[in-house]
Amino acid sequence: MATHRPSTDRTSELDSVGIELRQALTRRPRTLPPRWLYDDRGSELFSQITSVPEYYQTETERQILASHSAAIAEITEATTVVELGSGTSDKTRTMLDAFVTHGLIERFVPLDVSEATLLDAADMLVERHPSIEIHPVVGDFTRHLHRLTEVPSNGPRLVLFLGGTIGNFYVEERRAFLGALADVLAPGDWVLLGIDQLKPIDRLIAAYDDDQGITEAFIRNALVHINATYDGDIDVGNFEYVPFWDGRQERIDMRLRACEPMTARLDALDLDVDMAAGEEIRVEISSKFTPSSILSELEEAGFGEQDATGRHVFADPSDDFAVVLARKR
Ligand code: AVJ
Repeated sequence: MATHRPSTDRTSELDSVGIELRQALTRRPRTLPPRWLYDDRGSELFSQITSVPEYYQTETERQILASHSAAIAEITEATTVVELGSGTSDKTRTMLDAFVTHGLIERFVPLDVSEATLLDAADMLVERHPSIEIHPVVGDFTRHLHRLTEVPSNGPRLVLFLGGTIGNFYVEERRAFLGALADVLAPGDWVLLGIDQLKPIDRLIAAYDDDQGITEAFIRNALVHINATYDGDIDVGNFEYVPFWDGRQERIDMRLRACEPMTARLDALDLDVDMAAGEEIRVEISSKFTPSSILSELEEAGFGEQDATGRHVFADPSDDFAVVLARKR
């Protein structure tokens, strides 16, 4: 069946990304938006992270999905499956197999910022699932959820947001994201969220401070990406990687700390960045949840009936990770 051309509109996007970065580097603590982690090199490093021994999340989620996709197809009866930040859609393959076997799915809508990645994934998916329509949408899930309203559906939609990516949001951003998602969905549509569960701190720290230093390289690469984008001269080697557990906020906080005082310039942003020795840039957070904590946030955003028919939790036997399914009220 047909593959649609991705829909996109790039108007003034570069400006707003630059404005956001300027604010990010000017506030205290300086706090980067996660987008800077994912250039080509960053995506490659993240994919290496998923197979370091300390990082259990990707494989655990894959197993949960493999065990429960058939049940998820049956519960949701979704005819349209949307995936936010779909990337290469490789975890989704197994899910789509189960949905196709179940027999109701008509359409898969991968949404991703990278048009090239989307088109590659679409080719693969069209070949593997000739019976379903593949409708890629270019977009950033923090800004372009409204693009999903352009995609038709004759039945319930299921939106996948996997990998624990929701953990990268700050509390307020998470609330805004879930609210925006509720706004583009109709009553009876579903969301499936992958969450990393709270667990003993030593395992959490190890997952973000692996022995091979791949996570460190991934975090440092955000500054390389910024330099490349804005003609910058930040001395990446002047920074030390500092991951720690923030117990009050229940999240891993990943920072880069300047060793020596530093003066840098991002020419294309017309921005000078001066840092004292010991000053930090927060590059990423990764929040940890319990199924009930995320269910109550979903509830507040308009998902999941009180009587529990509209919510389901699927986890691995050790409760390391979970996928939480909730229906729009
Ligand atoms: C892709 C957001 C789920 O937070 O665990 C991995 C990203 N950062 N190691 C995570 C990440 C450092 C990852 N997510």
